[in-house]
Amino acid sequence: MSTIDRQRLGSLIDRERATYAADHPTSARLFGEAEHLFGQVPMTWMAMWSGGFPLYLDRANGNRVTDVDGREYVDFALGDTGAMAGHSPGETVKAVSERIADLGGITTMLPTADAEWVGAELSRRFGLPLWSFTLTATDANRWAIRLARLATGRPKVLTFAYCYHGSVDEAFAVPGPDGTAVARPGLVGAPVPLAETTRVAEFNELAGVEEQLRHGDVAAILTEPALTNIGIVLPEPGFLEGLRELATKYGALLMIDETHTFSAGPGGATALWGLQPDIFVIGKSIGGGIPSGAYGISAEVARSVQAHPEADLVDVGGVGGTLAGNALSVVAMRATLEHVLTEDAFAHMVGLATRFTAGVQATIDQAGVPWSVSQLGARSEYRFASPAPRNGSASAAAADNGLDEFLHLYLANRGVLITPFHNMALMCPDTSADDVALHSRLFAEAVDELVGA
Ligand SMILES: Cc1ncc(COP(=O)(O)O)c(C=O)c1O
Repeated sequence: MSTIDRQRLGSLIDRERATYAADHPTSARLFGEAEHLFGQVPMTWMAMWSGGFPLYLDRANGNRVTDVDGREYVDFALGDTGAMAGHSPGETVKAVSERIADLGGITTMLPTADAEWVGAELSRRFGLPLWSFTLTATDANRWAIRLARLATGRPKVLTFAYCYHGSVDEAFAVPGPDGTAVARPGLVGAPVPLAETTRVAEFNELAGVEEQLRHGDVAAILTEPALTNIGIVLPEPGFLEGLRELATKYGALLMIDETHTFSAGPGGATALWGLQPDIFVIGKSIGGGIPSGAYGISAEVARSVQAHPEADLVDVGGVGGTLAGNALSVVAMRATLEHVLTEDAFAHMVGLATRFTAGVQATIDQAGVPWSVSQLGARSEYRFASPAPRNGSASAAAADNGLDEFLHLYLANRGVLITPFHNMALMCPDTSADDVALHSRLFAEAVDELVGA
């Protein structure tokens, strides 16, 4: 088993940082001049790219991004899933342009006929019969959590350590020493102590889930089918079925967030693995890059909600938003689902992710580094632990900022982007076998340098 020589890693990072700075003078200058942006970036996550400053975007199409210094990249980051349909997919652009330029009416608070088409398509893919739209997955989660509380009359949400569901206050919990929820390190401005809103367990550990549910105060178990925001942590056989059984046994709803795991296939992990959520959440990619999100509810949840005449669902009850379901967002979802993220597209994307994963695994085996790689449909991610961590806390413990920075910069300096805050690569309909082969070669070369082969 090879160990990483930290001194060698340090010098490799210095070398790659110098190349990055030399190759991107315009991005460096624009970042230096950004005096009116909090954290020097339009959104704080954009500061997470390696190299000391982010690349500034000039243009992007398909799976190619070009920066303001004229350098082109094969993009496996794809806006951390927001661009899983590829950048500016033609059919989405056509539909959106027609709405903006020809018909007009980006946001009018009037429904369009496309909305029912999208609702029916989401039902066909994911099974839930009734849908409501948002502009982000965060909002879909927030609004659906409110409905879960109303439907069950219970206050808490059960989440898994190191999950991520957007900026949803309830979900930033890890287990404290006695198992009750405490804020995840670094959390900003929690409205109340996490234990008041949240129960927390470890992914893949049903006994811990049951222990939390026994208190009888959980409205919903909120989870991704596989954790994807702390590496990919795949569910062990029987775990998701067990969650369904426990939710039913203890009167909690099962809320499945497929914002990222939609990568599993045209019907997400829900269709692939036959899951039976009471509430389903999706966002990011379904609008082809135009802000879009949705939540679906079962007929039974709808009945429980509607049994509350005091609930203000049509005004200020906290489950809507002025721009949500606007004509632009809805037509973007329709075009993307109808023409871009199709069954054929998924077959292509999943095939490439399988190749990508095999390429990474071959290098891990050859170099003898104690790492692992996990795939979920069209996405693949490596983690600095072997075997692959089986829960969020173990995966968090395998984080290695130095290795992240070296590998991200090595790839970026040679024309390949992966997701900045983890080691995730996503395939889109435009990704090609040559793009995957390029990554496999560069990854092997980077690891060779690292272990001194
Ligand atoms: C599983 C999951 N749910 C929800 C979200 C929130 O998405 P958004 O930031 O678009 O609101 C994310 C974002 O990464 C996510 O990974």
